[in-house]
Amino acid sequence: MDAGNEPIVELRGVERTYHVDGKDVHALRGVSIKIPENKLIILKGPSGSGKTTVLNIMGGLDQPTKGEMLFKGRDLGKFSDRQLTLWRRQQVGFVFQTFALIQTLSAFENVELPMRITRKSWKERQARTLECLDIVGLRKRGTHRTFEMSGGEQQRVGIARALVNKPALIMADEPTGEVDFRTGIQIMQLFRTMVDEGGITICLTTHDPAFMEYGDLVFEIQDGEIIR
Ligand SMILES: Nc1ncnc2c1ncn2[C@@H]1O[C@H](COP(=O)(O)OP(=O)(O)OP(=O)(O)O)[C@@H](O)[C@H]1O
Ligand SMILES: [Mg+2]
Repeated sequence: MDAGNEPIVELRGVERTYHVDGKDVHALRGVSIKIPENKLIILKGPSGSGKTTVLNIMGGLDQPTKGEMLFKGRDLGKFSDRQLTLWRRQQVGFVFQTFALIQTLSAFENVELPMRITRKSWKERQARTLECLDIVGLRKRGTHRTFEMSGGEQQRVGIARALVNKPALIMADEPTGEVDFRTGIQIMQLFRTMVDEGGITICLTTHDPAFMEYGDLVFEIQDGEIIR
């Protein structure tokens, strides 16, 4: 296969079974998908269908019970815990439905936080933080505490934070779930621009049919299986 066409992420026959009260819950029943690089991927499906489980496995937060998760052809199941943590830190950014910001910190401090554990100098961290705030259109609001910001602004801070370590992949679980429709459109447009300009692959979940047009590829999941 041409290296340029190699999927950045591939799931092969991924099953995920939870054990609850002595019973098996089959969250994923053999999911095989290829995620091409530099694309915006949308995962849709009803509540409980397995969307979050797929994103968590693709982002290395969870492991398949059976099957494989490959990143650029490398099997994450063969990584040690340390390798997996490092890989996740360097390659994956997460965006959450409820933003998951630290309310007592400023927008700038929230965005800068993931770089604290890297070896970057303060100067580099400051420059990169401002760059990411700029990408999401909030450079001038860096000093604001996040509780002073609107839902849409808080989500943009969350997106800037996900970008700060220059990940190859962004996983966004219902990133428009807590904002109004217009703000949701703005967030989808921002993701679209990031993919078009930034050499990044974004996988997100959404329920809203109006947002599907922003995706390069839409996968539909039902009862733990990809149906299209
Ligand atoms: N930690 C867990 N323990 C047990 N069962 C779980 C766990 N996490 C998820 N499940 C089950 O796995 C299935 C898939 O859950 P998942 O969270 O991936 O769905 P989802 O598509 O993201 O739903 P939603 O749209 O409501 O967020 C569901 O039946 C859920 O109850
Ligand atoms: Mg979910």
